[in-house]
Amino acid sequence: MRKLLWGTLISICAAATAAFLFAWSGVYSIAASSGHLAVVSKFLQFGMQNSVETYAVGIEAPPLGPAHVEQGMLYFQSGCATCHGAPGLSRNPVALGMLPQPPDLTRVSDDWSDAQLFWIVKHGIKYTGMPAWPAPSRDDEVWALVAFLRRMPQIPAEEYKAATRLRDGESQGARTMANEGLIVGPFACGGCHGARGEGSPLGSVPRLAGQKTAYLEMALEDFAAGTRPSGMMAPPAANLDRQQRAELARYYSSIKLDEVAKSDISEKAEKARQLGAILAEHGAPSRGIPACQACHGRDGRASENIPQYPGLAGQHAFHLANQLRLFRAGKRGGRLAEVMSAAARGLTDEDIEGVAMYYNALR
Ligand code: HEC
Ligand code: HEC
Ligand code: HEC
Repeated sequence: MRKLLWGTLISICAAATAAFLFAWSGVYSIAASSGHLAVVSKFLQFGMQNSVETYAVGIEAPPLGPAHVEQGMLYFQSGCATCHGAPGLSRNPVALGMLPQPPDLTRVSDDWSDAQLFWIVKHGIKYTGMPAWPAPSRDDEVWALVAFLRRMPQIPAEEYKAATRLRDGESQGARTMANEGLIVGPFACGGCHGARGEGSPLGSVPRLAGQKTAYLEMALEDFAAGTRPSGMMAPPAANLDRQQRAELARYYSSIKLDEVAKSDISEKAEKARQLGAILAEHGAPSRGIPACQACHGRDGRASENIPQYPGLAGQHAFHLANQLRLFRAGKRGGRLAEVMSAAARGLTDEDIEGVAMYYNALR
């Protein structure tokens, strides 16, 4: 028995020494250009597959709708398509020089369950260049990407191009900014927020038009600093300097809300809206919820005396509801989040749908 133990110990030491000498010699080529041996490639793939399967156990998908697909698609175009390609768009040649190459996801997303896709996009993959999601607390954003990845194989190239506003003309707003030296590169504001700051067609990206200048500036600062965590907004905000933030804030707040606002709500939602109206005007004192009006104003545009308090009137219902759920969970961030969190803590899902409808329809 003793002999066996010693034998094993010596073999382990010998193997470790050999591995060290091999690494130290520098003989092994780490060149991405030379590729892996087929057997190494298979082995790594096998390890990755099993790791993802193990860690994704127990993750459950929330309900996902067309607005999630939209949000995921808009981000995908700015943040993932250079590496992975997209319907009608091939992968960038630089990405094809990576080892492993980022796969064409229209082909491989069926290999994974929703939970597994979620895990990959949230955590990234070590030693491959596949990045983790920049805001670890924003699972809702990662789910939007999963919703899109699921749909992507069925999205025709034309539809993808139209929806990501790659068509000429529609990206005009972004382009004007680019010409002024303000916004260049894939994260042009207009690609997601629309040429006139009207937000995205299904409302998954908020309206900026008509919002107060000081609030927009504060939001951009908080996104860049990470104190308002958002993987969707951190990349576009990160490269702006103070002057650009100020100019963009002025640009969007100068556009009249009425020029772009359209109501998202159907007649079916009228009942929810009425419930929301009561909360907005009176709050629910028995549950410790103050009237939203007290801070956001009777007309939903907030008082100019407190420049950092946002207007809510005409904002997309999807965005309002999502922000309220984040406040309630203590995950919204923003330097004035404490002021707002107290109001959101006692809200039920029904309350949230109701006030979102109410403010969306308010003019
Ligand atoms: C810098 C390039 C790069 C960017 C940006 C990138 N990825 Fe990846 N991704 C990779 C690489 C490389 C792999 C391959 C990993 C492997 O084969 O083990 C990968 C793998 C994946 C996979 C697993 C697919 C499979 O079967 O191997 C998914 C899903 C994925 N990426 C989604 C995304 C999403 C969504 C985004 C944007 C949020 C994104 N990636 C951004 C490089 C990138
Ligand atoms: C990839 C799509 C995308 C791009 C590009 C983008 N945004 Fe956003 N933006 C979003 C989303 C999604 C949100 C909601 C963030 C959240 O849920 O926390 C948002 C939120 C914001 C907010 C906060 C609005 C509010 O009501 O609190 C501001 C301000 C903003 N964006 C400005 C910009 C500016 C300026 C640019 C260009 C430099 C830009 N965005 C580029 C998707 C985008
Ligand atoms: C005590 C003042 C106060 C009250 C009361 C209040 N809010 Fe707020 N609210 C704020 C402040 C301040 C912010 C900005 C927080 C930040 O971004 O740092 C905010 C932000 C928000 C946002 C995010 C806007 C965006 O575009 O991201 C929503 C949505 C919101 N409030 C809805 C409500 C609703 C609904 C109620 C009533 C149930 C309410 N608020 C009551 C002060 C208040």
